[in-house]
Amino acid sequence: MLKKTISIIGSGPSGFYTAYRLLKKSPTPIHVRLWERLPVPYGLSRYGVAPDHPEVKNCEETFEACAQEYSNDNTQNSFEFIGNVTIGGPHVKLQQLINNEDVVIFSYGCQSDRQLNIPGEMDTKGVFTSREFVNWYNGHFDYALQDKFNKFPWHQVKKVGIIGNGNVALDVTRVLISNHVNELWSRTDISTMALKHLRESQVEDIKLIGRRDFIHSKFTNKELRELWELEKYGIKGMIDEQYFDRDKFELSSMQRAMKRRIEMCDEYMKPFEERSKKNYKKVIPLDPATRHWSLDYLKTPLRINKDSEGYIKSLTLCHNVVTPENEVLPQLDQQITYELDLLITSLGYKGVPLSEFESLNIGFQRDHISNMRGRVLSRDGKIMPQLYATGWIRKGSQGVIASTMQDSFEVADLVMEDLSSNNNYGKKSIDLSIIPHTTWPQWETIDREEHRRGVKLSKPRDKFLSLEDVNHYLSQPFVNQ
Ligand SMILES: Cc1cc2nc3c(=O)[nH]c(=O)nc-3n(C[C@H](O)[C@H](O)[C@H](O)COP(=O)(O)OP(=O)(O)OC[C@H]3O[C@@H](n4cnc5c(N)ncnc54)[C@H](O)[C@@H]3O)c2cc1C
Ligand SMILES: NC(=O)c1ccc[n+]([C@@H]2O[C@H](COP(=O)([O-])OP(=O)(O)OC[C@H]3O[C@@H](n4cnc5c(N)ncnc54)[C@H](OP(=O)(O)O)[C@@H]3O)[C@@H](O)[C@H]2O)c1
Repeated sequence: MLKKTISIIGSGPSGFYTAYRLLKKSPTPIHVRLWERLPVPYGLSRYGVAPDHPEVKNCEETFEACAQEYSNDNTQNSFEFIGNVTIGGPHVKLQQLINNEDVVIFSYGCQSDRQLNIPGEMDTKGVFTSREFVNWYNGHFDYALQDKFNKFPWHQVKKVGIIGNGNVALDVTRVLISNHVNELWSRTDISTMALKHLRESQVEDIKLIGRRDFIHSKFTNKELRELWELEKYGIKGMIDEQYFDRDKFELSSMQRAMKRRIEMCDEYMKPFEERSKKNYKKVIPLDPATRHWSLDYLKTPLRINKDSEGYIKSLTLCHNVVTPENEVLPQLDQQITYELDLLITSLGYKGVPLSEFESLNIGFQRDHISNMRGRVLSRDGKIMPQLYATGWIRKGSQGVIASTMQDSFEVADLVMEDLSSNNNYGKKSIDLSIIPHTTWPQWETIDREEHRRGVKLSKPRDKFLSLEDVNHYLSQPFVNQ
């Protein structure tokens, strides 16, 4: 059967939801190839989402069912997973894909970090970006076995600073402050090695440091509530009254979610007996609290100070003023220093262009591919037929899996619309026989083995932590590209 060929780069939620929509809906016969840099699929669903939020990973069941249904060349629409191949790496260039496929869709997410650009950020031991740290505890092949984590003196960690107050910062706070609570983590798919190291730490105090004020915090209420609820384990939150004074907020002009956020913080900071609403009195806090987290505001990090061995000692910051237009004005003459044993910068992931973008004239703006509703634009702003972008690499690192799905469906619909007016079937897919890669059945083998290893530890899965281990297990060597 003659089919249009569609290559999707990246098998995270955006790539997989795009494939799903196309396979389910395309009236034009198609063959979808989903290329993935790692030997395993699912992107941030597997390596980002917090291990104690397993319900968020339910999207993987949809992806699995889809892959199984369409992994058959005889159906009108068919699917192929090609793992362990980096597009732009030594085996497959982007140019090749463009030459050989009818459609190429970029869904490779945000693979780098936003930075503070302050002294000490890149060369101090004990300063990690949230992306690195999250990848480490989720067992990502690039980080799981890195010495900078596994040989870090976790036992010395008492005071932690986290820059940023988005939901990733809250995930990181939860992991760091509650890892000793067995019922929260031991039955999750968190890397067993990372959990062991985290449990050596003695975290007493975590400051979540925002550059703006409470009203402009980036987290959402559900995630904040999860932190407050840790009080039942002796983990207490607080906000200094200079940043949170209920009487000073203009509640009448606020949206419901913000009013609820203020009420939530106000109630949880009261002694248990003084709380007025049942909602905040579900479980009695464990007293006295031995671990604390706090929401800190209106500060700009200026420099990271290290000791003679290169480990973080402290962070110097200055106070900020935020204008009514929401502009941050650092007050350099008002500096303070926090003593810290660990600093995580949680500023958002950063999208980066593929190396051939420049030569292929593909536009890239700040942290995402230039596009118009998902149609990729050239550097001079023209639509590039055949190329599309979706997910985080289309918009930057914002949005949950549900909004990413919505975005992917819209882009898939555009692709189908464009394909319906193109009757050329001249292209021939890249020959895979000479490219070392993992297939969907091989991923299923890996998946089964991770479950099997997990059962032994009463975990849902125990992930492979190195490519060598995967290689060895599959006993079919493939090159890491
Ligand atoms: C720490 C964290 C926690 C989160 N928690 C939640 C949550 O609880 N609930 C929720 O709804 N959302 C959550 N999100 C958001 C959610 O993960 C994103 O909305 C979603 O994963 C974005 O999907 P994506 O496919 O665009 O990117 P990704 O998931 O990053 O997928 C990109 C994929 O492309 C691959 N790739 C990269 N470069 C190449 C290349 N050159 N060739 C081939 N493949 C490549 C990568 O390996 C990766 O598999 C979280 C995000 C983070 C960072
Ligand atoms: N449970 C969940 O549903 C869940 C979990 C994790 C992630 N996610 C989603 O994933 C997306 C990404 O989350 P994220 O937390 O990585 O990003 P985010 O929500 O964009 O938060 C980034 C934080 O970094 C701060 N920041 C950025 N640059 C800074 C700088 N130069 N100096 C100081 N502070 C700086 C931001 O402050 P400003 O606000 O001042 O810019 C903000 O507080 C979000 O859509 C999030 O909702 C969802």
